[in-house]
Amino acid sequence: MTDAILQQRERGLLTLQFNRPDKKNALTRAMYTQLAETLEQADADPAISAVLIQGSHACFTAGNDIGDFLEQPPSDLDSPPFHFMKSLLNCRKPVIAAVAGAAVGIGTTLLLHCDLVYVSRDARLRMPFVNLGLCPEFGSSLILPRLLGHAKAAELLLLGEEFTGEQAALWGIATEALGSGEAALAKAREIAERFDTLASGAVQVTKQLMKSVDREQLRRVIEEEGALFVQRLKSSEAIAALSEVISRK
Ligand code: COA
Repeated sequence: MTDAILQQRERGLLTLQFNRPDKKNALTRAMYTQLAETLEQADADPAISAVLIQGSHACFTAGNDIGDFLEQPPSDLDSPPFHFMKSLLNCRKPVIAAVAGAAVGIGTTLLLHCDLVYVSRDARLRMPFVNLGLCPEFGSSLILPRLLGHAKAAELLLLGEEFTGEQAALWGIATEALGSGEAALAKAREIAERFDTLASGAVQVTKQLMKSVDREQLRRVIEEEGALFVQRLKSSEAIAALSEVISRK
């Protein structure tokens, strides 16, 4: 277990907090594995009513650790980042996210699989996959064009443009944008705690129904994206771009 993911259990609410502030909460292989295993346990535990995923009030996560991408790139769809994606995709309990500051790469794409997302208005979200010589992941190439239309999604995925929490709420990526990071975290917790008072069977069936229409197509797209992502990581374009980011340190 790594202390870079803090786990807290309060009544039926499990909170998972990214806790690697010196690296802007960038996610390592160990962090993905802990997140995946904990989500699987939460899914199986009848006493857990909801899961809250958060960073700090200053930063959500800078996405995948760039050093890991270069030194230990995921080699297949069982690798830790994909294990995490599967466990989030399969989680039957409601997952709530609280986002403040930067949410980069998987820090943005994971939000597409949460049920309720509270962001600070000035949060900075970005999917710089192309900029890093990579390609979209976690179903984002399917979900974003559907949500935003192709032309707007292209700005985010083909150009890797940054957008704010306020825009994320306007576009339906987030549930609500709040005035500060503290307010986003507080609202997300207040909402997540409500699931303790709701009928868990009804909540789970409702989530299942909301997700069932697209489930198989989404799984196929995630696999297709994943296979291409693994290939792209070995490409000269990605190696050059990732090495450039590392050399700026
Ligand atoms: N992987 C590894 N280290 C990372 C990281 C990442 N994804 N993101 C940030 N860090 C590290 C920086 O290298 C720096 O480390 P150092 O102090 O040892 O030099 C530290 O975190 C602080 O980062 P810094 O860039 O100075 O913070 P900032 O507040 O100016 O900017 C971000 C924050 C998140 C906007 C910026 O760090 C960033 O864009 N990171 C890269 C994100 C990325 O490309 N992720 C991969 C997506 S697929």
